[in-house]
Amino acid sequence: MLTRIKHFFFLVFLALLISQFIRPDKNQGSYDSITNFEEATLVSADVKTIFENNCYDCHTNSTRYPLYMEISPITHWMSYQIKEGKEHFNISEWDSYTDKEKDHKLEELTEEVELKKMPLKPYTWIHGELSGQDREKLIQWAKDTRVKIKEKPLDSLPIHESDTTIVDSVQADTVI
Ligand code: HEC
Repeated sequence: MLTRIKHFFFLVFLALLISQFIRPDKNQGSYDSITNFEEATLVSADVKTIFENNCYDCHTNSTRYPLYMEISPITHWMSYQIKEGKEHFNISEWDSYTDKEKDHKLEELTEEVELKKMPLKPYTWIHGELSGQDREKLIQWAKDTRVKIKEKPLDSLPIHESDTTIVDSVQADTVI
């Protein structure tokens, strides 16, 4: 029995050792795309720090890699979460979302943060949970940003067919 247990642990050790040499691709794009998001949504210094310390690693194209993140199985777990996280919400691609999508992402963000689902659990073992104050700041920022998106001046919206019809009829009126 004892030798079996020894064998088992030896195999686990061997698997871990081998996995150290299988390196997933790193997620290390430029920070510029994040700056676009921060400027577009008027992120305050406070909120920027919250995002940087708790969210950007999994929701942008630019993850920080401290030493522990180089170790398997953490590195493999993170690589998977980054892929999943970016599929649902990629801050680096904020510009490519439509206003409706932006609004929806912010609505989800509020929900996830309120229910303490984000930041994802095992990540918080190292990085700590969000404090109540930080959660409030993020939620308030999301609320303000959603209002701003809705208030965007009409002239920045693309022209729809119905708009052209109105313009046509106005012109027709002026001719008469
Ligand atoms: C360790 C990686 C990780 C961290 C850190 C993290 N997330 Fe996520 N996030 C994910 C993954 C994976 C998903 C997709 C699966 C899910 O919803 O659980 C996700 C989903 C989301 C979604 C989309 C939910 C949906 O229904 O589409 C939002 C919004 C979000 N996260 C916001 C945040 C915010 C805000 C933070 C920081 C306070 C954060 N996340 C931190 C991994 C992470």
